[in-house]
Order: sequence, then C-alpha cells, then structure tokens
Amino acid sequence: MSSPSMAQPIAITIMLLAVAVAPGLAVGSSSSVINATCAALKPLQPYDYCVGVLSADPAAAAATDVPGVAAAAVNITAVKAASTLRVITYLVDELTTCRGYYSNLVKSLADVRVDLGAGRFSNASLEISANATGVPNDCDILLFEGNAHKDPFTQENGENDLLVRLASAIIGLLNKNLVNHGF
Ligand SMILES: *[C@@H]1O[C@H](CO)[C@@H](O)[C@H](O)[C@H]1NC(C)=O
Ligand SMILES: *[C@@H]1O[C@H](CO)[C@@H](O)[C@H](O)[C@H]1NC(C)=O
Ligand SMILES: *[C@@H]1O[C@H](CO)[C@@H](O)[C@H](O)[C@H]1NC(C)=O
Ligand SMILES: *[C@@H]1O[C@H](CO)[C@@H](O)[C@H](O)[C@H]1NC(C)=O
Repeated sequence: MSSPSMAQPIAITIMLLAVAVAPGLAVGSSSSVINATCAALKPLQPYDYCVGVLSADPAAAAATDVPGVAAAAVNITAVKAASTLRVITYLVDELTTCRGYYSNLVKSLADVRVDLGAGRFSNASLEISANATGVPNDCDILLFEGNAHKDPFTQENGENDLLVRLASAIIGLLNKNLVNHGF
C-alpha cells in the first residue's frame, strides 16, 4: 500500500504531533496519531470509518506512533476474525444437526408415500405426525437458540413446516374418511 518513501514523512509528522498531545486520552475519543494516520490514508480508507474503528479501541487510542496504531489495527482485526471463526464453528455444528433432522425427514416422507401407495392411511398418518411434523421447527429452534446466533434457514424451515403440516392434514382427512366410510 504505502511505499517507504511515503511512510517516512508521515511517521515524522505523526511523531511530532504525538509530542504535542499528551497520550492516554479517554477511551472513545480520537487521538492526534489516529487522526493523522487516517488523514494519510485518504481517500482509499474512509476517514470516519478509520477514526471510528481505531478510536473505539483502547490500545489504538493510547498508541503514540504509527507502528502502535498498526499493531492495534492488527489486533482489532484478529479479535474480529477469531469471533467470526467461533460463529462459523458453531454454525457448522448446528447445521450438521439440522442436516441429520432433514435427512430423517426425507426418509420419513418416503415411508409415508409407501404407506399411502398401499392404502395404509392410518400408518401414513401416524408416521407423518410422529416423524415428520415438527422437524423443520426443530431445526429452526436449534439455530435460534444455538451459539452461532445465526439462522440462515428461517424461511426454508418455515416453508417446510407449512408443507409438512399441509400433507399431514390431507392424510388426516384420508384417515378420518376411512374411519367414517365416506364424507
Ligand atoms: C481528531 O479528529 C476529530 C474529527 O475527526 C476531532 O473531533 C478531534 O478533535 C481530533 N482529535 C485530535 C486529538 O486532534
Ligand atoms: C495485541 O495483542 C497481543 C496479544 O493479545 C498483545 O500482547 C498486545 O499487547 C496487543 N497490542 C496492541 C497494540 O493492542
Ligand atoms: C400399520 O399399522 C398397524 C397398526 O398400527 C401395524 O400393526 C402395522 O405393522 C403397520 N404397517 C406397517 C407396514 O408399518
Ligand atoms: C418413526 O421413526 C422411527 C425411527 O426411524 C421408526 O422406528 C418408527 O417406526 C417411525 N414411525 C412412527 C410412527 O413412529
């Protein structure tokens, strides 16, 4: 990004600025080193974003030179990346559980279809209520209550839930119809 020929005068300017301003500014307020660093990065790095992110970090706010600000910026990024890595790990775990749920759901629906094809309406009805209805919601609750706090499948789960309930209701109709010998 910045060549050594550019970085040198910037560093000097900032160090001169740093001498003039006492370090240890209150957390959240921007230091002159942060301001000068961010000003030197214009226009590639939006100034307000740069000052905002760095000022919010105690180590960056306390930094008295550009290497200090750079170290803090790397740390801020590392903390964020580690947090995202944790979320991904939780999400992979939770989605693996959901994959198991949906795999059972697909198997269960195949069984229901076999029962239906053989005219075993009460078996189909029992199977779909016991092993299919509720599965999409189980996945949704898992993701909602999970540690990742991300649910990329709310809409999918909702659509599956409505469909399985519809199929179950129709099978329930067949089952009742069989018992009542006609509508
Ligand atoms: C840094 O810049 C902000 C505006 O971006 C200003 O409010 C603040 O007073 C400046 N701080 C110093 C120490 O120059
Ligand atoms: C960066 O993080 C390391 C390891 O956590 C720490 O030792 C160091 O003091 C931090 N530096 C800054 C500038 O935040
Ligand atoms: C269907 O249900 C009946 C009564 O619940 C049970 O005896 C029978 O084994 C079931 N048939 C199949 C193929 O699951
Ligand atoms: C539901 O799934 C289980 C496990 O696969 C199976 O043993 C059972 O027969 C299925 N049907 C019902 C109505 O519980």
